[in-house]
Amino acid sequence: MEDIEKQAMTELADVKTRKELQAFEARFLGRKGLITLGLKGLKDLPKDRRKERAMVLNSLRKKLQDAIPAREAEIIRMETGEAAAHEHFDISLPGMSNHAGHPHPLTLVQEDIIDVFERMGFYVMDYPEVETDFFNFEALNIPKDHPARDMQDTFFLEDGNVLRTHTSAGQVRAMQELEPPFSAIFPGRVYRYEATDASHDNTFDQVEGLMLDHRISVANMMYYMQVLLEAVLKRKMTVRLRPGYFPFVEPGFELDIQCMVCGGKGCPVCKHSGWVELMPCGLVHPNVIRAGRLDPDQWQGWAFGLGMSRMVMMRYEIDDIRNLLGGDLRFIEQF
Ligand code: FA5
Repeated sequence: MEDIEKQAMTELADVKTRKELQAFEARFLGRKGLITLGLKGLKDLPKDRRKERAMVLNSLRKKLQDAIPAREAEIIRMETGEAAAHEHFDISLPGMSNHAGHPHPLTLVQEDIIDVFERMGFYVMDYPEVETDFFNFEALNIPKDHPARDMQDTFFLEDGNVLRTHTSAGQVRAMQELEPPFSAIFPGRVYRYEATDASHDNTFDQVEGLMLDHRISVANMMYYMQVLLEAVLKRKMTVRLRPGYFPFVEPGFELDIQCMVCGGKGCPVCKHSGWVELMPCGLVHPNVIRAGRLDPDQWQGWAFGLGMSRMVMMRYEIDDIRNLLGGDLRFIEQF
């Protein structure tokens, strides 16, 4: 037995690789290994020698169970030491990092708006981007051949539908779908066939606000618009309200915000006027309420259409709207 122990320890000291170590372990401790077979053969020995042989075998097994992992650790140290000595390994190189995504600035602003309006009991609705002529124009008091159709240059589809030019297309859908009185916002992407510049894109985002009740006032509408601006911009801003014409509201207004990119001094974003058109609004025209299958003598409403892409520009002082959907990661990764 002493010979086996000596042999095992000498062989273990000679093992140089992890593969050799595995073979060594199998030869001594495996199912058909020397120690296992020795323990199995105990029964063939005379009784008086069994106990002593069992103690020696178990003690050797214990020694090997400790010595094998220790030898493995030595082999690993040798292997990595050799690699470090022979291979070029620059520990000053940056490690591999996981590239995590993050919300787009339009999403960040939209989430703030939804958060505030949901807490005030508004529904958040989602309507189609491919829209019928009826909901985008006719239901909004803009019949065919009405000059107001020229206010928004439209992408017409071959099947007669349009890419919605504004989120106002959801107004009559909401009236037909929700039980009045109700208040709702519908954020979404809109499309216009127009030349682009620092503050105009052909694809941009708006948020429509709509409230329908028995008694509605301009003051009430102004309150909600103020809440919206404060929630998103989170700082003091200067706004002005002026009359504006839209066939689907009467009276109609334009709410402009003092340009936050130049502080009102004048820049390409505000076309050097110091003001940015941000949120037209007004009291819903009776014809629109009728299109919503409601009685305008009973129901009144207010609506606003926020230019959300421009709102994002104001919040982050972005000097060109085309950066928003331009797909340049160097821009987007700043948010
Ligand atoms: C409308 O789209 C109306 N539907 C708004 C409305 C709703 C009026 C409810 C009354 C009641 P307008 O075309 O002005 O209106 O667009 C609304 C806002 O969208 C503008 O004030 C502006 O902030 C933004 N906007 C308009 N055109 C563009 C464009 N090409 N690129 C980026 N933003 C634009």
